[in-house]
Order: sequence, then structure tokens, then C-alpha cells
Amino acid sequence: MNTQDEIFKKIEGDMWFDRNKDKIGAEESLSSDLTIKLIELYNLKPKKCMELGCSNGWRLDEIYKRIKCECIGIEPSKKAVEDGRKKFKNIYFFNSTADSVPLDDESVDLVIINFVFHWIDRKTLLKTVYEIDRTLKNNGYLIIGDFYPDYPIKVKYHHLLDEDVFTFKQNYADIFISTSYYKMIAFLSGHHETHKLTTDANSNSRMMQVLLQKNINLTYQIKTL
Ligand SMILES: C[S@@+](CC[C@H](N)C(=O)[O-])C[C@H]1O[C@@H](n2cnc3c(N)ncnc32)[C@H](O)[C@@H]1O
Repeated sequence: MNTQDEIFKKIEGDMWFDRNKDKIGAEESLSSDLTIKLIELYNLKPKKCMELGCSNGWRLDEIYKRIKCECIGIEPSKKAVEDGRKKFKNIYFFNSTADSVPLDDESVDLVIINFVFHWIDRKTLLKTVYEIDRTLKNNGYLIIGDFYPDYPIKVKYHHLLDEDVFTFKQNYADIFISTSYYKMIAFLSGHHETHKLTTDANSNSRMMQVLLQKNINLTYQIKTL
């Protein structure tokens, strides 16, 4: 049986790109993009930025235009990477899933993962979390965009009803925060489809965009037992 990651590598990554290539990177998606808003608001100036599940790299291209940092995109869709390599010469692409990142330890200042965690196979979820933490420098930033339901839910993926593919909606920032060495810097909540900031989207379509900072020297309270 194919894993969910293999299905994205073989077919669904390309199919998602074919369905969305005219929308992504268009003026409207750039101006409403909450990742770019957070970078702007917090005046982030990374030297090296990596986006996991970056599609054709449209967001990295905008970041490169603004900050001129080194940009690395990881994406399983061959079509998206092919398109990005033609259009965006300043972005370095790897055709891979997020659980296998060919970069050195602590080599990146900013990691972005936007609406990708919910499609990652549960067997490689923690490996992906490890890859983010391994490659992110101490004091570096992590931006996560994803669904933000009242409680974790698993929804059958409507584009591939014959396959065992699911959307896993849950709060992925919590995984990092529970380590006690990632702290929340900013939290935005909105509507998944419109990307409008609102607090009253229903649980199924509510999304969040969070900015976290890694600090392995966060002070622990020392207690003698
Ligand atoms: C909803 S799209 C979002 C694309 C992009 N992040 C954006 O904000 O426009 C999800 C993307 O994640 C990719 N993807 C799916 N599974 C992945 C995995 N295991 N690792 C990395 N990317 C994955 C898909 O191919 C697709 O490009």
C-alpha cells in the first residue's frame, strides 16, 4: 500500500499544482499572505530561509525580492519544482518530502511550513518535526500556517476518495511549544478559504498562522527533589 507521502510524491502533489497554479503567486494571494505579513510585522531578516511544501516557490520568490536572503524550497511535486526552477532562478529547490531535508544541522534562520502539516503521513510527522528542529538555528524562527479546529479531526481527502488519504486538522504549533524551548511570538486566526482574519470561523475552516522562536537556552526552574 502506498503511504500518504508516496501518493503526494507520485500523483497528488502534481494534481494540486495543476489545480492551483493560476491562483498561487497571483497579486491577491501575495497581498493576503499571512506568512509575509508576519515577516513584515516582526521585521524578520533571515540570511537563509527554507520553505517545506513550497509548491513552485511563489512565496519564497516574494521573500527573496524583499530580503535578498538565500531561499531553499522543498517540494514533492515534480511539476511544481520544474515550474519554479524555470520561473525563479534565485530559489534552490529539492524535490523531496519534508521528512528528508538535505541541509546541515542549524543552517537556517527561518523555516516556513504553510498548509502542509495536515497532509503529512502520520508515520513521518515526527520525522518532519525533527528535520525542522535539526535544521533551524538556535534563536531562529518558525512560521506555521494550518487549520485550527476545536479538537483534532481526520477528514477523508475529497480529491482522492478511492485512496486512504486524509487531512489531519490539529494545532501543529503545540508540538513545538510542548518542548518548552519554542515560544510563541505571534498568533493570527482566520478563515481558511478567504484568509481574512476573524475569530468566528467555524471549527472546520478556522486556520491559524503562528510565529514561533526557538531558544534552547530558555531557563528552566531548577527544583531539588
Ligand atoms: C495546500 S498546498 C500549499 C502550498 C504552499 N505551501 C502554499 O502555501 O501555497 C500543500 C503542498 O504541500 C506539498 N506536500 C504534500 N505532502 C508533503 C510532504 N510530506 N512534505 C512536503 N510537502 C508536501 C504538496 O505537494 C503541496 O505543494
